[in-house]
Amino acid sequence: MSSSPLQNSENIAASTHTAVDVVLDTAYQNISAAQWDKLFSFARKSKLEGFIADMFAGKHINLSEDRPALHSALRNLSKLPVMLDGQDVMPAITDVWRRIEALCNKWVGVTDVIHIGIGGSDFGPRLAIEALAHVPGIESRGMRMHFLANIDTAELARILDRAQPNSTRIIIVSKSFTTLETTMNAKAVVNWLKDNDCTKGQIANSLFAVTANIPTAKAFGIEEDNIFPFWDWVGGRYSVWSAVGLPIALQYGFKTFEQFLAGAHAMDLHFKNAPLEQNLPVIMALALLHQQETLGIKAYAAIPYADALDWFPKWLQQLDMESNGKSVDRQGKPVKHSSPVVFGSAGSNAQHSYFQLLHQGSDVVPIDFIAVRKPMSDRPEAIAHHRILLSNCLAQAQALAHGKKADNPNDVYPGNRPSNLLLLPELNAFYLGALLALYENRAASLGALWNINSFDQPGVEFGKVLAKPIEKALLDASHLEANNNIDAVTAARINLLNT
Ligand code: F6P
Repeated sequence: MSSSPLQNSENIAASTHTAVDVVLDTAYQNISAAQWDKLFSFARKSKLEGFIADMFAGKHINLSEDRPALHSALRNLSKLPVMLDGQDVMPAITDVWRRIEALCNKWVGVTDVIHIGIGGSDFGPRLAIEALAHVPGIESRGMRMHFLANIDTAELARILDRAQPNSTRIIIVSKSFTTLETTMNAKAVVNWLKDNDCTKGQIANSLFAVTANIPTAKAFGIEEDNIFPFWDWVGGRYSVWSAVGLPIALQYGFKTFEQFLAGAHAMDLHFKNAPLEQNLPVIMALALLHQQETLGIKAYAAIPYADALDWFPKWLQQLDMESNGKSVDRQGKPVKHSSPVVFGSAGSNAQHSYFQLLHQGSDVVPIDFIAVRKPMSDRPEAIAHHRILLSNCLAQAQALAHGKKADNPNDVYPGNRPSNLLLLPELNAFYLGALLALYENRAASLGALWNINSFDQPGVEFGKVLAKPIEKALLDASHLEANNNIDAVTAARINLLNT
């Protein structure tokens, strides 16, 4: 194999960093020591250290909405005060922890939980419930956990077919409590309870809400004692650490939920205190920035070699693309770089799908390979299978890095395709928390480096506004004539649907 900077031994030694027992190996990023120096100087020039300090200190870093991004306080198990505009937020947070624990102890005889929420009110708890279900020997209450997000009634129908109305609890999760998908699905589920002869009292006992809009949740008919608050300084996509993560505690116990928070808190302490040169989220952010600058990359993939993390790329898509998918900076000026497109799914399945493009496509797509040292089952085959899983992960990274020469152009692998390896010692609630916080802090670092506000999402509103007149025109064609917000193409499509 030809010698390249990728094989330089000095490079290999300098490329491994560990935090919270999570190892990051950037050897296949092909970034020289001099280039790393430049990247860290750029980070300092961009005042990244000040930004990190401001974020943890509750400064209003979300400029457009004039509020802080304090999701780190939600996992601050040290309980040390976190001041927001002169007030400590920790008493309110610990009160919610107390209430979650009490609810865990109270729920008996519950067969089904329907968690209704979308976007940030869905991905985090869904990912955690799914991931932890794969942990060998995890203590679980074995309730059927149903996640209802889409307004499409397909999922609603499937869930209501399976759930037992008299022993089902419903958690309506919406920061705003105005999201149409969530409120309409919640009404449909309440109607299902009524249709199944549940009394008013039973329905009131079955309904729970997690929200930052308590008055609207109450107006919906949810008892105050069943409402778990979170706050406007927690972005939806950063909210799994709040009572949005209630299903984790209910299914796996409060201690497991605490472990999830503890892993994230440990990663926060690392992010807050480690020098930039040893700081995992910062190193990952800078590597991505380098590939944007040098290779012009427009997409990257996250490939966990663990079925348990199959939902992780979906969670990450919202985190990265809703946070940093912006074309103007914090001052409203055009940006040079913003979030690449993010995609991924569990390996080795992914190898049998889109890896052809990753190896030989005309665009370079960097990859985060995520591996877990310990097998995820107690099966007698576990060790042998896991060895094959890991060898696939390592082999793909090497093939992408070095490529292959051949006479037949069809058989040429160009190589020089960068990747990270992230290695978790095992997958449990603690390391899942650490992994998610690592990526949250990486997204915040990238926002700071690109000078983007990572904590608003103005771009998701426009389509919602346009959907309203279209819905009216689909119901009654006369609205089509009256409404000039609908263009000719969409009008023709409405007519097509109305025939
Ligand atoms: O439409 C996007 C969005 O606002 C996300 O940012 C958010 O996670 C999701 O909708 C759900 O919002 P809510 O929790 O307010 O229902």
